[in-house]
Amino acid sequence: ATIQWFPGHMAKAKREVQEKLKWIDVAFELLDARVPMSSRNPMIDEILGQKPRLVLLNKADMADEAVTEQWIRYFREQGKTAIAIDAQSGTGVRQLAAAAKEMVKDKFAKMRAKGIKNPRPVRALIVGIPNVGKSTLINRLAGRHIAKTGDKPGVTKAQQWIKVGKEMELLDTPGILWPKFEDEDVGYKLAVTGAIKDEILNGQDVAVYALRFLSAHYPERLLSRYDLDDIPADIIALFEAIGRRRGCLTAGGGVDYDKVAEIVLSDIRTEKLGRLSFEAPALRT
Ligand code: G4P
Repeated sequence: ATIQWFPGHMAKAKREVQEKLKWIDVAFELLDARVPMSSRNPMIDEILGQKPRLVLLNKADMADEAVTEQWIRYFREQGKTAIAIDAQSGTGVRQLAAAAKEMVKDKFAKMRAKGIKNPRPVRALIVGIPNVGKSTLINRLAGRHIAKTGDKPGVTKAQQWIKVGKEMELLDTPGILWPKFEDEDVGYKLAVTGAIKDEILNGQDVAVYALRFLSAHYPERLLSRYDLDDIPADIIALFEAIGRRRGCLTAGGGVDYDKVAEIVLSDIRTEKLGRLSFEAPALRT
């Protein structure tokens, strides 16, 4: 579903997450490991306030491992714990309960000091922008399928705690927040990684963005995937070279640019170009 984030929707989404904060000990901020900054809600610090937070770099299976390591260090330098996970296969997910418990150990020690013998399980909430993998992670942690609520603020249902082992409970509805879409680069990165549906931005524009990025940062992948001798600096020439290699031709024998764009984006999203990260801490603009 296409999501329309009007100012009113955003205010409501923020309020809904803040309502839920009252019930939880720790927030899991879910980001896309390939674009951790672009997949982040611009107001997240304000929204979460002092609530302990664990940053989860999801879809790490598709991201460049070396870059993900840089991100983990980057967050650590900011005093945040970040963990790379793959909610789909479950890699890294087992660490979550222990990491969450570690984050709230002072709070729970105080509860014990007040005479509460067996502190309750750690209560957690997943927050993140649409398509970052919130439902996948909830289902993974629950060990069963939990119905997804629409990606719309205001679609409410009775919330329940999902037990995750003995030591953690998770709210079954995530906090859905909006991305930072006033930045054009962010829009392209979210489109390249599939977080924004293809109807929203022009496919050729998205492919131009992707090909420029790959030419600069992963040239060898382009060379081998499309069997190129070199990478033309001119973007039209690059489209033409890929199009000719792939037989993306129009009836008149010209290159079908739409088809080239489709192939490139599909290759990126299905990992035919390998594991890619579109943002690194060192490359931040
Ligand atoms: P949301 O609740 O935050 O909106 O996201 P959701 O879980 O629906 O996940 C969005 C897409 O991302 C889904 O793919 C999901 O399978 C995929 N995904 C989630 N986590 C991971 C991960 O760690 N690794 C990889 N590779 N993919 C992940 P989809 O195309 O919408 O559906 P489908 O491909 O599963 O059919």
